[in-house]
Amino acid sequence: MTNHGALREIIEGLLQAEKMISPKYFYDERGSQLFEKITQLPEYYLTKTELDIMHANVGEFAELVGPQASLIEFGSGSSRKTRVLLKNLINQAVYVPVDISEQHLLESARRLRSEFPDLEILPVVADFTRPFELPSPTVMPLRNIVYFPGSTIGNFTHDAAIELLKVMHHGAGMDGAMLIGVDLQKDPNIIERAYNDSAGVTAEFNLNVLRHLNREYDFDFDLDAFTHDARYNPEAGRIEMRLISSRDQIVNVGPEIISITAGEGVLTEYSHKYTLDDFTAMAELAGFKVAKVWTDADDLFSIQYCVRI
Ligand code: TRP
Repeated sequence: MTNHGALREIIEGLLQAEKMISPKYFYDERGSQLFEKITQLPEYYLTKTELDIMHANVGEFAELVGPQASLIEFGSGSSRKTRVLLKNLINQAVYVPVDISEQHLLESARRLRSEFPDLEILPVVADFTRPFELPSPTVMPLRNIVYFPGSTIGNFTHDAAIELLKVMHHGAGMDGAMLIGVDLQKDPNIIERAYNDSAGVTAEFNLNVLRHLNREYDFDFDLDAFTHDARYNPEAGRIEMRLISSRDQIVNVGPEIISITAGEGVLTEYSHKYTLDDFTAMAELAGFKVAKVWTDADDLFSIQYCVRI
């Protein structure tokens, strides 16, 4: 997408009755670093739990995936969880990390290359919510495994999540599969704490989206006039993250004027939590059958292995 198209998309979101900014704008260099810090917070159970599940079951993953596979990761970030897979997959053909944050992606690909000198690594800078081209590896893979950890699927609305799962279904191809991390429904207090950490990193991360828009698209958001708000919506089964305006204010971008009233929120992120049945139904709508599910002892998080129906 051109920068111009992105700017239009952002402005349109801010002119809606319920103002919103797409979460993909979180991930500039600083945003990606702040997100790394979130994953290490004591309250943020998701990454830790997912890593534990990976470590406990990676032998079984490797067997299901089989030899000479192409691992295509959507939204790879620092690829921390991926290392567990890369160390254990059998005679892997290629690793294709896809991420929107170029610097962050190339830096982590460089580090992985030195750790896995025999593995072909072909990073793709792309917004994975739009069609993008897969690179051609040197060795023809036997099958594609789409890897989508971190419960990033939860950051999409129901319909958008199904659309994205269809893209992954396509990316997996005939004999491929998908390995996906899905956060589960649980005590709302545990969930809310994960998005309201005591060190304030999530608040920093949330506000950073405005800094990104100011720098990259020439908005004039006053960062001091917004506060972080993350609460669980039990009807919708999701965390809703907003930036709340502390006063009436006008935000300018080019000729465009956006007025925000005191107390009004700008939606920046959903994080849906699913039951196992919810996710099975969604996967089926995208043409996937959930073939295997792993969870932790407290059923906080799940990793699901899905094949074509
Ligand atoms: N997908 C993860 C989640 O929903 C990670 C994430 C995305 C996140 N955006 C976030 C975590 C913003 C905290 C704040 O939790």
